[in-house]
Amino acid sequence: MGAVFRGIGVYYPETVLTNSDIEKIVETTDEWITTRTGIKQRHIIPKGSPLKASDFGTFAAKAALEKAGVGPDEIDGIICANINPDKQFPATACFIQAKLGVKNGFAFDVTAACAGFVYAVNMAALLIDAGQCRNVLVIGAEIISPVLDWTDRNTCILFGDAAGAVVVGKGPEGRGLIRSQLKSDGTQSEVLYLNLPGDEGRRGMFMDGKQVFKAAVTEVTDIVRSTVAQAGFKVEDLDLLVLHQANVRILNAIAEKLGLPPEKVLINVHKFGNTSSASIPLALHEADGEGRLKPGMLVALAAVGGGMSWGCNLMRW
Ligand code: UT7
Repeated sequence: MGAVFRGIGVYYPETVLTNSDIEKIVETTDEWITTRTGIKQRHIIPKGSPLKASDFGTFAAKAALEKAGVGPDEIDGIICANINPDKQFPATACFIQAKLGVKNGFAFDVTAACAGFVYAVNMAALLIDAGQCRNVLVIGAEIISPVLDWTDRNTCILFGDAAGAVVVGKGPEGRGLIRSQLKSDGTQSEVLYLNLPGDEGRRGMFMDGKQVFKAAVTEVTDIVRSTVAQAGFKVEDLDLLVLHQANVRILNAIAEKLGLPPEKVLINVHKFGNTSSASIPLALHEADGEGRLKPGMLVALAAVGGGMSWGCNLMRW
């Protein structure tokens, strides 16, 4: 225990795409999107913008560094989660490292789709606890709209573009990450995927929405329960549950199964849509701004995404 979030930063493009805007692109309605997903709007990168995931990640990371009062020379590692990297290699984290002027340590990417942030936080905390790093930047940098199939109403209505970053570093006694659990089930890799450009077959994202929905509710509920129990707590001890923001029905179903009242579960999917690995830092940033995150609170972060991959971080804020 001991790795805390010293600062949170976010970035999202100004351009807003509302449900009414999407009505003009595919056969759908604001009413359908709102009742099935809770999403009202999403921010997306303007068509033809030269910005890459590393630019989004750099903007969010700069904000997180400023908030933490930490300089680039105090960062010993950068871990970036994303589903649409700048290039196949090198890692988007390496581009971010250069853009930030970070000279120490390492930079690498995590590929765990929407669960990427939770995976990266686990890695960063281990590196801090082991004394290998002073501070690690964990970033979810997602530019999803250009790789969507804008004729597929099953997927194009769901996603938004954004980035979120946290500076993970040593905290005061009694605070920080307590326990993490990560899980994957590669036999479900066909349920949700994005082909490489040039691959044969489907362009854009494929998603078996019903299957993902079921897995999200079941697996996230289980992993939150077991992570909390492994750490010697009860679910009702949680002060705040911060879930990957995919669909308000998923969030409500998990909260209900866990027996948590609505005020303990953060929801901002209506403003941003599903921003994959950026959604948890985006929700945390908003909660922080509203004064909903207080030192000493027991907070669980949890997410599920393509892989299937899922995980939970339990922390004393
Ligand atoms: O981060 C992880 C990634 N993804 C997720 O977490 C998504 C998880 N899944 C979901 O959120 C939901 O499954 C969706 C929102 C994607 C879909 O909701 P659903 O309640 O599972 O709807 P459905 O796919 O069963 O579709 C119901 C009906 C179908 O029509 P019929 O066959 O009943 O006539 C669809 O063709 O709704 C139709 N439909 C739409 N109608 C209007 C599907 N997409 C749309 C649409 N607008 N955009």
